[in-house]
Formats: sequence, structure tokens, C-alpha cells
Amino acid sequence: MQIGIVKEIKDHEYRVAATPAGVAALVAAGHRVRVESRAGAAIGYADAAYQAAGAELTDTEGVYRADLIFKVKEPQAAEVALLRPGQWLFCYLHLAAAPGLAAELMRGGVNAVAFETVLDAAGRTPLLAPMSEIAGRLAIQAGMQALEMKNGGRGVLLSGVPGVPPGKVCILGGGVVAANAARIAIGIGADVTLLDLDANRLRAFDVQYGGRLKTRYSNAANIGECVVDADLVVGAAYVLGRRAPRLLTRELIRSMPAGAALVDVAIDQGGISETSHATTHSAPFYIEENVVHYCVANMPGAVARTASLALAEATLPYLLKLAANADAALKADAGFAAGLNISAGRVVHPGLAVDLGF
Ligand SMILES: NC(=O)c1ccc[n+]([C@@H]2O[C@H](COP(=O)([O-])OP(=O)(O)OC[C@H]3O[C@@H](n4cnc5c(N)ncnc54)[C@H](O)[C@@H]3O)[C@@H](O)[C@H]2O)c1
Repeated sequence: MQIGIVKEIKDHEYRVAATPAGVAALVAAGHRVRVESRAGAAIGYADAAYQAAGAELTDTEGVYRADLIFKVKEPQAAEVALLRPGQWLFCYLHLAAAPGLAAELMRGGVNAVAFETVLDAAGRTPLLAPMSEIAGRLAIQAGMQALEMKNGGRGVLLSGVPGVPPGKVCILGGGVVAANAARIAIGIGADVTLLDLDANRLRAFDVQYGGRLKTRYSNAANIGECVVDADLVVGAAYVLGRRAPRLLTRELIRSMPAGAALVDVAIDQGGISETSHATTHSAPFYIEENVVHYCVANMPGAVARTASLALAEATLPYLLKLAANADAALKADAGFAAGLNISAGRVVHPGLAVDLGF
């Protein structure tokens, strides 16, 4: 199969879907790989390294002529225009929050496999997890910046200092993003509370951190109590393939201390707050109801080298199967098939179909 590795064009997106080592593995498996010029240049992978691995260098039009387009982020408008019927697209898509893109992919007859809905044998999301690990860790860093006075924050140092108590962090969700945000927040000595619907997740956190982390069931009353005096709220709730649950009303946001921060990591699925809308690395913050919001939908792009290495390792085994025989690969593995969002003009992922009103 001909595989196209794209240079990302989303704002400040420097990740690349395949490393030269990944390209060498694809070539060794008998595939022809086209890499768009400068696809990995920003993170230290020169064109020459891809050529040495056996790739053919090409321009944007050339890369989109491949049978399978392998990239990181959902295609932007200029990229959608280059897709063609029957082509395979393997990348993050987050279509529940992007009905317009879903409609275009359906119209275009593309077979779109979304990293974020692929499942492993245990029902986990192996191609979302590496980026969630990064986004969770970055969430506390972003929140600390949001709390700085120059960004409109209330001037709280989350770690506190001797004689002054630490800041309060409220994490909504208890999955991969949440676990990594909790790890960093606890590490710097913040006062952390984590809420999830899943009692077993809460038990696991309790065992791991003992008294250094408070856990609570996620319901409207507990969320309200936790958010009202939080310095930083992290949005990390997600239901597979669905729009993010709306856990925070505008009124609740208004009840937070002036200058408090919301880092809504779940913004790629639409966000957990009524007040959330996607921002970019160029302009990551905005203030609404006196709360500093950070809603960057491609957070790992900020640490593109680490992110590319982690993502490429996780996706390569799936890419090799897809490229060898896409239909057989999806038929043989129900978890991989759960990644198929759109095929031959139809939405085929059940949760996505519900959210998009089909
Ligand atoms: N902005 C970014 O750059 C970026 C990067 C990576 C991941 N994400 C997003 O972050 C979100 C979380 O990802 P994840 O990998 O941690 O998912 P996950 O599946 O590991 O965890 C989600 C957790 O949310 C919990 N949950 C569901 N409904 C809830 C509710 N009403 N209240 C509290 N908890 C609830 C689930 O029980 C689960 O534990 C996803 O939307 C993902 O796409 C964003």
C-alpha cells in the first residue's frame, strides 16, 4: 500500500505521525511511503532521515495521492479538499465535536479511522492514552500559568510556600488525563480533589495516594462544592467517542473565585463547561465570568518531540495491520474496528452516530 505521512498545518502543531524508524518498518513490510517535505523538521527529523529510511519525499498534493493518509490531527479545511473517495485516513478525529468535518468526510467517501476510539483487549484507548498522559501532565503547567497575574489569574502558587497553604486543584474525571494531572499536582504539593463516576477508579487512586489525594463521586452537588473554592479546575471527563459531559454550568463558573483557572482538556470532545470554547497555542487563554480559561485542543503539540515519539510507538503496530489488509485487520479485531468512525459515506461508530443525530 502507498502510505502518506503529512506535515501538520494546525496552529503550532509540530508533531509528526511517523518517525524515520517507523518509516523503515513500513518499507520493510513492503509498503511505499511518501513523506511530505519538512514533516518532521521542527522536531529534529530532517527530510534526509526519512529518505534514508526508504521514503519518497513529496509535496502536499503528492502526499495526499497515497492510498492511506497517516497524520496526527484531524484534517483542516485545506486538507479535506485533498482527500478522495476510498482513501483511508488514520489520525485523531474527535468528530462528536465536529459535525461539519464528519459531514465532509461522509460526502468525500473516506474511510476514517480515529485514533481516539480504537480499543485494546481490556477496553482501554491505547492510541489516546499517550497523548492523554502528556495533556494531563501539561494541564497543571497550563493551570499554573493561567493563575499568574499577567494572564488574569488570582496570583496563587499551587505549591504554596512555608506558612502559606497550597492552592486547591479539582480534577473532573479519573481516567488517563486525570491520573497524570493528579500525579503532577500532588508532586508539587497542591491540595487535590478528584471526582469520577467509577467507584473502582476512585478506589485505585485512594490506594495509590492515600491521604495525599481526596476522591469524591462525581455528581452535581459534589462538583459544585469542589469547584466553588478551587483555584484550578481540570476538565478530564470523557465517555468513549461521545461529546464531553457538560459538568459545569455558566452559573457554577461564576461561583468560582475571581481569577481562578479552568483547564478544559476535554475541549477536543466539546469541553466540560458551558463557557468553554477551543483556543490555540498562539492565544491559549481567555477570561469568562472572571475565570481564566485554557482550552487548547492540541495540548501535546507544545511538546511535539516527546509527543511524536510516544504516539508513533503506539500507532505503528495498528498502521502496519491497516496497511497490510485494512478490511481483514478490522474484521479480526473488534477493538481496532471500534476506531472506524466513517466508512463509504456513513457514520459507523454507534456513539458518534447518536451524538451526530443519526
Ligand atoms: N486537549 C488535548 O490536547 C487533549 C489531549 C489528550 C486527551 N484529551 C481529551 O481528554 C479527555 C479525557 O481523556 P482520557 O484519556 O483521560 O479519557 P479516559 O477514558 O481515560 O478517562 C475519562 C474518565 O472520565 C470519567 N467520566 C465520564 N463521565 C464523567 C462524569 N460525568 N464525571 C466525572 N467523570 C466522568 C470516566 O469514568 C473516565 O474515568 C478526552 O476528551 C480526550 O480526548 C485532550
